[in-house]
Amino acid sequence: MNHNTSQRPRILSGMRPTGKLHLGNLVGALQNWVKLQDEYDSFHFVADWHMLTTGYEDTLDLHQDTWEMVTDWLACGLDPAKATFFVQSRLPEHAELHLLLSMVTPLSWLERVPTYKEQLENIKDHDINTYGFLGYPLLQAADILMYKPRYVPVGEDQVPHVELTREVARRFNLAYGKLILPQTPANGLHGLATQVGIASSVSKTKGVSFLLDGSIPAGQKAEAIQQAFDTAPLELKAYYLNNGLSNREIFPEPEALLTSAPRLPGTDGRKMSKSYGNAIYLTDPPEAVSKKLATMVTDPARKRRTDPGNPDICPVFDLHKIFSAQGTIDRVNRECRTAEIGCLDCKKLVAGHLNTFLAPIQERRIPYEQNPQKVWDVLEEGTAKARSVAQTTMAEVRAAVRLT
Ligand code: TRP
Ligand code: SF4
Repeated sequence: MNHNTSQRPRILSGMRPTGKLHLGNLVGALQNWVKLQDEYDSFHFVADWHMLTTGYEDTLDLHQDTWEMVTDWLACGLDPAKATFFVQSRLPEHAELHLLLSMVTPLSWLERVPTYKEQLENIKDHDINTYGFLGYPLLQAADILMYKPRYVPVGEDQVPHVELTREVARRFNLAYGKLILPQTPANGLHGLATQVGIASSVSKTKGVSFLLDGSIPAGQKAEAIQQAFDTAPLELKAYYLNNGLSNREIFPEPEALLTSAPRLPGTDGRKMSKSYGNAIYLTDPPEAVSKKLATMVTDPARKRRTDPGNPDICPVFDLHKIFSAQGTIDRVNRECRTAEIGCLDCKKLVAGHLNTFLAPIQERRIPYEQNPQKVWDVLEEGTAKARSVAQTTMAEVRAAVRLT
């Protein structure tokens, strides 16, 4: 089965609606999406159900956070004329596929997802001891497989989820993919069935001479082989397929498209994250950016203005490397080591470059802030497009499972 009918290969990726985006979201994912939209048939969605898997108690801001995030997508140049944006919870097809995939997914596959046990141990401030949280990577598999994308652009932490998605696709294909039997004369199928090892299973229900009987049409024999295949346990199906039978796959296996993001530290030097309170937001006005940078940690060994510093271990320099002009980067790299430049001045330089970088992004938000409905309209249109793909996939899936 083809991934899709469009010329360009499809990609799909989702983002939890965490509200206004920060520089880490931009560098870690969004910039990459913007780059990819010219090359790929891009689908991007608001993963609002995913938000519930780790925070069902707190849905107060879900609506506003969705708006803020998608507005930042638009402000950063993700273009609804090129990419399709939609909202997960508007498409119940995702829930239906999640349910059907859950039937074939061994519990152990979910329990061994690396983030699962780790988060169970680490997250203590709210309840994640739920069925929804355990099943969240499978919901993600449903999100992905629904659109049959070639690639899934994700950060490193999400690669195990794409891996799980591939395994689930394989298992679903094995469970429900119809055989592709060659067109052969009536007696040809006997040879094939014997070679593959499925002949004995056919004999059990149809009689030993069934496949050999020249008076029985090939179509009936093919049907009997199909039936023997359909009722076989998965391991046996896998064996038949390895031995020369082939079946039609319902879901092609997508590949992770790894986003190689540079390290983006927050003001405290840890990874920039909303929950750490160390983030610089795309919507922060220049004064706020300068103020946050003024408090940012630097090379801890540089205590006095006259101490030489080491930019290689300074988080401020990490920001320079991403947002400053080459001339500034070279100058800081030199003058920090000789204590020619002080940290205050160094931070002012990066604030200047950062504010220049953010100005056009903030300007592109203005029309949406003046007319918030515009953002909902973009999502509405994208959701309709996504729905038509999702409905096609689900019709195929229901037929394969025989829920007709
Ligand atoms: N799980 C992802 C995250 O927490 C978001 C996500 C949900 C996603 N469904 C997806 C990403 C499908 C890629 C593809 O960041
Ligand atoms: Fe960091 Fe700049 Fe200070 Fe050097 S001068 S330690 S790079 S803030």
